[in-house]
Amino acid sequence: MEIKQAYANSPKTYEGYGSRLGVQKGAILDWSDYYFLHHLPLSLKDYNKWPSLPAHCREVIDEYGKEVVKLCGRLMKLLSINLGLAEDVLQNAFGGDNIGACLRVNFYPKCPRPDLTLGLSSHSDPGGMTLLLPDAQVPGLQVRKDNKWITVKPARHAFIVNIGDQIQVLSNAIYKSVEHRVIVNSAKERVSLAFFYNPRSDIPIEPLKELVAPDKPALYKPMTFDEYRLFIRTRGPRGKSQLVESLKSP
Ligand code: OGA
Ligand code: NI
Repeated sequence: MEIKQAYANSPKTYEGYGSRLGVQKGAILDWSDYYFLHHLPLSLKDYNKWPSLPAHCREVIDEYGKEVVKLCGRLMKLLSINLGLAEDVLQNAFGGDNIGACLRVNFYPKCPRPDLTLGLSSHSDPGGMTLLLPDAQVPGLQVRKDNKWITVKPARHAFIVNIGDQIQVLSNAIYKSVEHRVIVNSAKERVSLAFFYNPRSDIPIEPLKELVAPDKPALYKPMTFDEYRLFIRTRGPRGKSQLVESLKSP
């Protein structure tokens, strides 16, 4: 407990170890802890909040972050091309090289009454896209398809790629962010690594001009990711309702 306290997550940058921050008293919490670390921008990164043990931990996380950012850059090009646009349009709308990237390592302990709780309540990821490295042994992630929850089977050596809310906004809802949640179980604990690839946090994000026309009006009003993230963090996970409530065009 003492070591956990020393790395307690910061209410400002969110870096460090803990569970959900900044929610109202009495809010329903999740059956999980997480470690949250910033990879980019460098101004948010504080090694003092990163684990010092094992000795190579920081180095490994840094390298992992670099490689995943490269992969995300490639996926951004594919997503852009699939919208019928030039390959760099989405990345430019994210702020070019000034993107944000962070890692959330989730730990879901065993739960004596898994029927009473969730490891992580239903939500869509607020950022751009998420590369999730799920636990190879223990399933738990579920995605919503219509009104059914489908348990995702982890494939060996594969990431699960989630579209987040910011790509839904930029694509004017051609891409939809995926609603998902995590269930817990009584026999096994579970670990997952969620790497979030986000737009630069202080520029307005709105539907791409190329995708808006008189018969295809912009579905969302401009909002910076900083503003959106604050809105989400104070309210906690609530399915996909937040995107609709915060950003719907008047
Ligand atoms: C998340 C998330 C899923 C998982 O961290 O946003 O959805 O499988 N994690 O832990
Ligand atoms: Ni998620």
